[in-house]
Amino acid sequence: MAMAQHVSILFVCLGNICRSPLAEAAFCDVAERAGLRARVDSAGIGNWHVGKPPDPRAQAVALRYNVDISGLRARQVSHRDYTGFTHIFAMDQDNLDVLLARCPDKMSAEVSLLLDLVPGRTGQSVADPYYGGADGFETTWNEVSEAARHLVGRLL
Ligand code: 4NP
Repeated sequence: MAMAQHVSILFVCLGNICRSPLAEAAFCDVAERAGLRARVDSAGIGNWHVGKPPDPRAQAVALRYNVDISGLRARQVSHRDYTGFTHIFAMDQDNLDVLLARCPDKMSAEVSLLLDLVPGRTGQSVADPYYGGADGFETTWNEVSEAARHLVGRLL
């Protein structure tokens, strides 16, 4: 099994119940298939859903792709994350702006937009599916999975 030495990845969205748990799960799935080990987690900008499992619609779309995310629990981004992870990927531009505005003086993580990993999608955001229907979650899964494939390809 390949080990991406010293690589640790945090996926961040607003609530940590829709996009970032899906990004975490998609990355873990692709990495496992590729035989790549890395430390992975997700977190939210806000604290509204701390301790809660992913949104049922996010759980459902992941399960359709044979990934069980029911055991994940939301948490809020903390200052320690800026030094505890080598890479922090924001799901959208608002998340990125807040992450950069809140960053401590001392930080080692590289902070960027998730879709910057996908050729042709630089600067784009993973749309927030929270207020929409199930099809939005399918789009989210496809977007975070594509980013995961590119990220694993880079790390192998
Ligand atoms: P997420 O989606 O940031 O992808 O987890 C959201 C979840 C909850 C809320 C907004 C977005 N909310 O306003 O509670």
